[in-house]
Amino acid sequence: MLKKKYTCVKVDQQKDGITWVIFNRPEKRNAMSPTFHAEMMEILTLLETDKDTKLVIITGEGVSFSAGQDLKEFFRETDGKPEVKAKAGNDSKWRSDKLWMYNKPTISMINGFCIGGAFTQCICCDFSIAADDAIFCLSEVNWGILPGGMVSKMVTDTFNQRDAMFYACTGRTFNGKEAAKMGMVNYSVPLKNLKKETLKLAKELLEKNPNVLVATKHAIRSTQSMSWRSSADYLAAKAAEIKIKDAARGHDAYAEGIRQFIDEKAYRPVFSPYVGAADGVTTAKGGKPRASAARKPKKAAASRASVKRIVKRSPAT
Ligand code: ACO
Repeated sequence: MLKKKYTCVKVDQQKDGITWVIFNRPEKRNAMSPTFHAEMMEILTLLETDKDTKLVIITGEGVSFSAGQDLKEFFRETDGKPEVKAKAGNDSKWRSDKLWMYNKPTISMINGFCIGGAFTQCICCDFSIAADDAIFCLSEVNWGILPGGMVSKMVTDTFNQRDAMFYACTGRTFNGKEAAKMGMVNYSVPLKNLKKETLKLAKELLEKNPNVLVATKHAIRSTQSMSWRSSADYLAAKAAEIKIKDAARGHDAYAEGIRQFIDEKAYRPVFSPYVGAADGVTTAKGGKPRASAARKPKKAAASRASVKRIVKRSPAT
């Protein structure tokens, strides 16, 4: 549990393992100053090993997710001060290096303006959900620099070439719905539902085996830039890593998952994780089979109508 209070960021830790990290400079639209970056680097470093934190959601206080780098404090006031600039630059890597391979799942909840350098933390979180009317903009071209830091590369990797070129060169704004179409966020929802939908995703993720989930997100990230051969080796090593980490939790996800489905009929993998994936209370340790695992009579299960019913069901029943 983090006890310290910060000036630019609020940390709100919930009992269920969800930790909200809330940018808290609403009067500056959550622009990112050197102090802001130093605090975020410290907070994310501490949360990565904090036993009460299982998943991190980052968002902004007020009408803005973040208005990007603070043009006064991050740029102008550090000009001519190479050491101060370098420190601010290093601290700002919480958005890229830190979040990209973070050891816990992360979600960015885009509640309003998401501008310039703030694209970095939006994209580098594992998941992102935006308000339909959130405003995204690569404003850099309008005031005289390249898209901040590595943002040119990130939008090229994330959007198609036409969209990356168009929005980087025009500086035109786009909204949450358009961001979802371009793959910048997973989906967008009306602002009034944003928190509820974000929590729904967070809770779904918290039902998974955390070792499997983190290895999966690292696999998706890392193999992006690897050859086929290197990917195969990396993935084999990651699979072995899951087993080593699971041993410390007292069960092997692979064996347990198969056993509960084939032998016990305790769950169905299409609809939910195995019993005890998240908390370790497997059926062997007293966990109860999921009600949703109860089988339908065979003839109904085979019909087309029943398949339609099944795919309509919530994934986390
Ligand atoms: N850097 C420094 N201060 C900022 C920033 C910023 N990026 N964004 C907003 N502020 C400050 C304003 O200077 C103002 O401060 P003041 O009250 O002391 O004058 C306050 O936040 C509110 O800003 P307004 O412009 O009055 O707020 P409004 O809601 O009308 O507009 C908007 C919000 C659209 C985000 C506007 O502030 C804006 O265009 N900001 C600049 C965004 C930007 O270009 N960011 C840099 C991206 S490039 C990069 O990150 C590498």
